[in-house]
This record gives sequence, structure tokens and C-alpha cells, in this order.
Amino acid sequence: MSTRSIHVFPAVNDLAAFFADLLSKEMARLKTGEFFSLALSGGSTPKAVFEYLSQHKQHIPWQRLQLFWGDERCVPPEHPESNYNMVQNSLLRHISIPSGHIFRIKGEAEPQAESVRYAETIVEKIPSVNKVPRFDLVMLGMGEDGHTASLFPGNINVGGSQSLFEVATHPVSGQRRITATLELINNAKTIVFLVTGQSKAEMLSRILEKKEGWERYPASMVKANHGKVLWLTDNAAASKLKI
Ligand code: 6PG
Repeated sequence: MSTRSIHVFPAVNDLAAFFADLLSKEMARLKTGEFFSLALSGGSTPKAVFEYLSQHKQHIPWQRLQLFWGDERCVPPEHPESNYNMVQNSLLRHISIPSGHIFRIKGEAEPQAESVRYAETIVEKIPSVNKVPRFDLVMLGMGEDGHTASLFPGNINVGGSQSLFEVATHPVSGQRRITATLELINNAKTIVFLVTGQSKAEMLSRILEKKEGWERYPASMVKANHGKVLWLTDNAAASKLKI
């Protein structure tokens, strides 16, 4: 059974605090010897959440966390546009987590080969349900164009692929990306969208209120097959919602 819930916060800090509490509660369910698999996202709102987590690190048992990425830009890890670099600066350098628990997508590698390698890593490290690895929690942002991870409108063959990761191309910059597919994302136990700012209001309303053409957008295709989807937003992004 899949459930969806929408939470609107006055400020990004309140949203981040909610996410930290959610993560802490979900991790509290871990059994002895188990690890929690968390797929991280790029984007400004996820970055704000990472910064909050680094300032409130006592709430999270970091030794029990395994970190993955839902997508990566095909650039080296020290590049300013690297999602790994963003997480390194906003979170990893502030916490103590075993390096063996951090599984970055190698943006510097040949994209197709890396998409295969990383998919193999996910299969190896994360238990599968219905023959697909099942993340405990996937963090996602959403672009103004309705993209999520690096699944872009019009590139749905990538999103609908049976593979776990595919190579995508940013429609404006042409930048190559490696992205999780819907096959993998939708198998997660918990999926959390982190969407803030006035610029997202139109698309958020279109997708959440199923307005004309809403099915075309990758963010609308995210449905936890056997889990829950939470949308965490701020007043600005939710300003066009009728909830
Ligand atoms: C990335 C993310 C991407 C991001 C959205 C929203 O690699 O950038 O995977 O999906 O989350 O573009 O980004 P903003 O929150 O910065 O608008």
C-alpha cells in the first residue's frame, strides 16, 4: 500500500528539522547489526537539510547509515557542480561516518560504465524486495520543469528503464548525468521530496493537484510501490496549492 502526505513549513529550517526527526525515527527501527540505506539528492533544498543535519548531528546514529546518491553530474568529485562535492562540504566534513559507508557515484568515470558499476554496487549493498534493491529512504528535489533526480521531461525512456541507473542529459546545459530510474526509486520504503521557493509553486500545484498534463512530469511518476511518499515544502512553494 502506498501513501502520500504533504507537509508545509513556514521556513526551510522547520522543514529540515522535520526531515531530521523523520530520519531519526526511521533509523530507530533498525534491528541490531542493520544499516540504514539513504539515497541523497542534489539541489538547494537538500543542501539546506544537509547543513541542518551537520548542525544537529547528535540526533543521528551516523555509524548506522550507508550513504548513496540518487544522481550525479558527470564531473569530478571536487567540481563545484558535483552532488558529492555539495554533500561533502555541507555534511560529510562535519560528521563522523565510516568512509566505507559512503558510496558515491564516480562522476569522473565513463558514464555508461559507471551507471552499470553503480547499479551493481546498489544490488550488492542493499537488500532487494521484489528483485529490486529497496532503499530505506530516498531524498529527492524537484525542478521547475518537473524533473526529479536527473529524470527530465521528454527523457522518460531513461526513467522507465528496467535498469537501476541510466545516463541522462540535462536538456538545457547538455551536461551528462547518472541517475536512478523509477524502477529503483519507486521500490524505496520512504521517498521524501524537498521542494521550496516560489519558483516551484506552479509545478508543485500541477503535479500534486493533477492539473492538465501532470502525468508528463517525472516527479509525478514517483510513487512508492510499497511505501510512503512525503512532500516537504515551504509556504512559497505551496502558495498555489488548494490544500
Ligand atoms: C540535482 C538534483 C535535482 C535537484 C532539482 C531541484 O542533481 O540537482 O538531483 O533533481 O534536486 O533540480 O534543485 P533545486 O532545489 O536547487 O531547485
